[in-house]
Amino acid sequence: MRDPVTTGVVVTGGASGIGRACADHLAAAGRPVAVWDVNGPAVEETAAALAAASGVPTVGVTVDVTDAAALGAALARTREALPSIGGLVHAAGIVAPAPVGRIDWAAWQRVLDVNLTAHARLTELLLDDLVAHPGSAVVGIASIEGVVGHGAIPSYCSSKAGLIGLTRSLADHLGPKGVRVNCVCPGYIDTPMLNADEATKQRYAARSVLRRIGEPDDVAGVVRFLLSADAAFLTGQAVVVDGGVTAVDEPSDLP
Ligand code: NAI
Repeated sequence: MRDPVTTGVVVTGGASGIGRACADHLAAAGRPVAVWDVNGPAVEETAAALAAASGVPTVGVTVDVTDAAALGAALARTREALPSIGGLVHAAGIVAPAPVGRIDWAAWQRVLDVNLTAHARLTELLLDDLVAHPGSAVVGIASIEGVVGHGAIPSYCSSKAGLIGLTRSLADHLGPKGVRVNCVCPGYIDTPMLNADEATKQRYAARSVLRRIGEPDDVAGVVRFLLSADAAFLTGQAVVVDGGVTAVDEPSDLP
């Protein structure tokens, strides 16, 4: 079914993993899509594949979302290519494992810049477009690591907890302007970022009450919903999409 909200969506990190699945789902629902990603060859390949599969207007823009000076040109290119912009998915993200005691402060700052600060910057950048179109919505890709802690990745946990706080703040400010703001908190999702061998994936799967790790499509379906008219009364929320990993202390082994 085509979504009654048909405005275009900017998907950062759209050339890989969860972002790419979001771009696929949105285009399949009839939403024009702009893929913004720092990985140039993957951007071109993704945009071409999207256009061929969906028939909706699509554009690929190679851009580092932390490069404030480059974002204006990325927006101009997107405005030329898409009929409108009424959505943002910030899926660009990085992780830099380094526990307290061994923190690399440049890497710490980079994680905060990409995962958290860019989300505020992008929302500000797109604000006029979002406010201009009824039904506009923003979705940040946070993480269960923003809800529970992990000692190896303090910068990542901080960035994702911050993204949840930023979501609530933006929702408060932008609600009266007709823009909804939510985030999703994925659990273990099989993407290049997870970077896990088979044994590790099985260990992660055992922590889910569904006994599996997630696929990018598991997250993308929820993101598509959050950007759609079906979610018209849903804002300021952090939706956990983790196969029940954080729902239980540990999965029970009842017969
Ligand atoms: P991925 O590594 O497959 O994709 C991330 C994409 O972001 C890549 O295409 C990369 O080029 C792009 N990117 C990175 N820095 C960028 C920058 N400065 N400017 C523009 N693009 C940039 O990773 P994945 O797993 O798809 O991650 C997507 C989001 O989901 C991230 O925010 C991640 O933290 C989050 N997430 C992932 C989970 C997982 O298990 N895979 C779990 C929870 C959250």
